[in-house]
Amino acid sequence: MSASYETRGHVAVITLNNPPVNGLGYATRSEIYAGLQRAEADAAINAIVITGAGKAFSGGADIREFGSPKAIAEPNLLSLIAALESCSKPVVAAIHSVCMGGGLELALGCHYRVAAPGTQVALPEVKIGLIPGAGGTQRLPRVLGVETALNMIVSGEPVKSEMLAKLPGQKLIDRIVDGDLLDGAVAFAGEVAGARPLPIVRELKVSHPNADAFFQFARNTVGAMAKNFPAPLKCIEAVAASLRMKFDDAMRLEREIFMSLMLTPESRALRHAFMAERATSKIPDVPPDTPTREVRKVAIIGAGTMGGGIAMNFLNAGIPVVMLEMKQEALDKGVGVMRRNYEAQVKKGKLKQDKLDERMALLSTTLSYDDLKDADLVIEAVFEDMGVKEQVFKTLDEVMKPGAILASNTSTLDLNKIASFTKRPEDVIGMHFFSPANVMKLLEVVRGDKTGKDVLATVMQLAKKIRKTAVVSGVCDGFIGNRMIEQYSRQAGFLLEEGATPEQVDKAMERFGMAMGPFRMGDLAGNDVGWYIRKRRYVEKPNLRYSKTADLLCEMGRFGQKTGAGWYDYVPGKRDAIPSPVVVDMIAKHRAELGVTPRKISDDEIVHRLVWALVNEGAKIVEEGIALRASDIDVVYLTGYGFPLHRGGPMNYADTVGLFNVVAAMKRFAANPHDDAEFWQPAPLLACLAAEGKTFS
Ligand code: NAI
Repeated sequence: MSASYETRGHVAVITLNNPPVNGLGYATRSEIYAGLQRAEADAAINAIVITGAGKAFSGGADIREFGSPKAIAEPNLLSLIAALESCSKPVVAAIHSVCMGGGLELALGCHYRVAAPGTQVALPEVKIGLIPGAGGTQRLPRVLGVETALNMIVSGEPVKSEMLAKLPGQKLIDRIVDGDLLDGAVAFAGEVAGARPLPIVRELKVSHPNADAFFQFARNTVGAMAKNFPAPLKCIEAVAASLRMKFDDAMRLEREIFMSLMLTPESRALRHAFMAERATSKIPDVPPDTPTREVRKVAIIGAGTMGGGIAMNFLNAGIPVVMLEMKQEALDKGVGVMRRNYEAQVKKGKLKQDKLDERMALLSTTLSYDDLKDADLVIEAVFEDMGVKEQVFKTLDEVMKPGAILASNTSTLDLNKIASFTKRPEDVIGMHFFSPANVMKLLEVVRGDKTGKDVLATVMQLAKKIRKTAVVSGVCDGFIGNRMIEQYSRQAGFLLEEGATPEQVDKAMERFGMAMGPFRMGDLAGNDVGWYIRKRRYVEKPNLRYSKTADLLCEMGRFGQKTGAGWYDYVPGKRDAIPSPVVVDMIAKHRAELGVTPRKISDDEIVHRLVWALVNEGAKIVEEGIALRASDIDVVYLTGYGFPLHRGGPMNYADTVGLFNVVAAMKRFAANPHDDAEFWQPAPLLACLAAEGKTFS
């Protein structure tokens, strides 16, 4: 049963029961409707309570039904709300824990609402590029006033029930119930059983003393902030209609806006990103009931750039960390950086001083492997050198307790080889954090050939605990993200040779929505990192062409921000990228040596050569099983590489443009004599999907 029916004296109680959050799927809606009819028909019943079982009143629409006919099958949410509103007996919503989206709209269709304290109340539709579509934009202003309602609808953020209950004149919450919610709700229902006429939200008056000015102010503020997203402004349009239109007409407008937003690429992208993030934890051969190991203490080897940031994640989650280095100075330096990071948070008011002390107290340091013996997980973050990793993993194999998980943060090295340095390859896994590791959401979890399923399940679960978005990657050079970015960077280099400037390429990509263009990104990360990798490539793949401009740049010592000069010039202490005449000159000379006549390159060509390079490599990654699904790649790019959210990730963007068009563009690129014709052969998966008119998703 997706909703149950029982009676308590003269009160009928309908309880939503559709775990995990009582999503209003078809079965649940039908059963609520049936319960309502049963209560209406039963002369012994004089009031009805609707509540939710488990950890929510209702989280809103059932995302498992998104896009399916069931989502709108009758009784749809609008019909159900109409039935509640017109019920001849008082209906009381007993809300608790989570009351969001369609769940709140359902509650607004009831005659009364009682709430447990701490209930998170929200209309979060804007976060998936929509507006509330079942009366939320019309009923919420009627009970909370235009301003509070608009704030909630435009931000999508939850507000606690007790805060809402305190607002002067509010009619959303009739009573906060401190004790048992259901007992309180049934008692309340008894009190109002005889009340007539029944209060109906749609009949309440809505007004604002200065509506025109208020909405204009809202449009200006929201318009400036919501640049790439149409939904926030549409929220304002819908709420404004609550004042100037009759209820039914405004409801029709809300519906029209909702339907038109459903079709926008931005909403599709947001819904895709939402679903994609949820999908990452699904590993076909590692079901949710796979046993996991307990991780109560973590050890980290190396207190450098990554080690310190990684440690902070665990300290923040209340998990003790022991950090090992070769020298005391390195430890002191690493711990100093961590402390300063926390202190900066305290200064900004994001962290309380006692929390800082609490977290630092969970940290211990050592120069001796003896002190790692009781750790359940060890993460190695030493130099990116196979010899150093070998020595570290051989030692770990000797000292770590049986059952401890041995993880490496390597960004390029072969995890299977690292595992082979131990006699327990099943305990070895990659945990590829991104820099700065205490800030970046992405964690690539690298599954070696022999990694145990319980080890993988444990690390995926732990990732949630430390608030990372974990994506599983198979073993290959660069894993998912960096393997793709290499092709993107190669194209960026070719563009320079053919006539573009670093600034032009960066600007085009930033207008597309990337947080940073490839050259600014290179200057931030350090151009020497790519140089190091290319030197290796020249030996491994002598036939693969790279533009030499990046090597020439590094030969000039221009490694980026850290050396005060890279693709751009920098004023000491500042991060502003200033176009460099020296670099432009270097590129021009190199072009002349190659005999290339520079041509004008359009922004469109820049964007699509770079993004389709990601997509073609991404298709190979899916085909090879390195990524479990194309949407995992989107999550990697959205959370780790500053890919614009309103495009939904590179693979989703390709789907939006149409794979047929993507392949056609690749064929054009392949005909360019300065480009890499072989690379632009569409990956078989891409070619196949395009030929069949299908998409990655
Ligand atoms: P880093 O040079 O800042 O820090 C490495 C630290 O390891 C140094 O403090 C060094 O003293 C210590 N160390 C070296 N050998 C050791 C040993 N045998 N025992 C104990 N400590 C030892 O390097 P970073 O940037 O933190 O990189 C560490 C690892 O993380 C590398 O594998 C790198 O590829 C990977 N990584 C780096 C990213 C970055 O953006 N810097 C991003 C993702 C992964």
